[in-house]
Amino acid sequence: MNTNQYIIDFYENYDEDSRLVSKHGTVEFLTAMRYIEKYIKPGDRIIEIGAGTGRYSHALARQGYDVDAVEPVGHNIEIFRRNTLPSENITVTQGNALDLSGFPSERYDITLLFGPLYHLYTTEDKRRALSEAIRVTRPGGVIFAAYVISDGCLFDEGFLRGSINVSEYIKNGLLDAQTFAAKSEPKDIFELVRKEDIDELMSVFPTTRLHYVASDGCSLLMREAIDKMDRRTFELYLKYHFAVCEREDLSGITSHSIDIFRKPVR
Ligand SMILES: C[S@@+](CC[C@H](N)C(=O)[O-])C[C@H]1O[C@@H](n2cnc3c(N)ncnc32)[C@H](O)[C@@H]1O
Repeated sequence: MNTNQYIIDFYENYDEDSRLVSKHGTVEFLTAMRYIEKYIKPGDRIIEIGAGTGRYSHALARQGYDVDAVEPVGHNIEIFRRNTLPSENITVTQGNALDLSGFPSERYDITLLFGPLYHLYTTEDKRRALSEAIRVTRPGGVIFAAYVISDGCLFDEGFLRGSINVSEYIKNGLLDAQTFAAKSEPKDIFELVRKEDIDELMSVFPTTRLHYVASDGCSLLMREAIDKMDRRTFELYLKYHFAVCEREDLSGITSHSIDIFRKPVR
């Protein structure tokens, strides 16, 4: 299965390894880990699909879990391998979320799909990636699927920072002029969605939602303020973020979200 060239070119030239390292960037990481830790048990086996340079995979392998990672981009795999400690029980395979045929069904207790859905543009492909993630998960296992949320990105990258030119996006059909719903193609790299799109996508699966989490909330929007926080203020900010990250009235303006659901037990 070939991964589209736009994604390869983007990640060959992007510093993915540093993305979650700044203080504001750690909010997403700490939030995801907090929810993983709610469900993971000693001896669990994890698969991370779209593992990038392995920030989550390595963190979990260093806690003693067995981790198999899948990543399509050679440059990311190189850094992933360089970051691996001898003590980690971890594998990384070059592959695509749309075809995990090299991995057996019902093998994993925890499945992380943190990235592929940022870069799949049709309902068919997104459901195929989700089906594959569900297939490799054991009955009763927990799947974590991350998305890029359009309104968070419009506030931050659009109206605040200007790295998205909102009127150009409307002119080029990437945003609906009335509803501001986003629409992307492979050349646009990122697929931006809203929670209603995720609900519709998931409506065909017999899974049970456990949590829908605004994983970084407003942290990218207020990145400069967060990076200036002293330790105690940052701890208080994190406490606040963890307290509100599942609130429906706040979940629409996050930059990323995580849908956490359980595969039914037969
Ligand atoms: C933003 S990075 C996330 C990396 C890591 N999972 C994390 O959360 O830090 C998105 C990753 O998804 C990978 N990706 C994109 N399309 C994919 C696909 N169709 N199948 C598997 N991985 C894909 C990219 O190569 C990239 O490494």
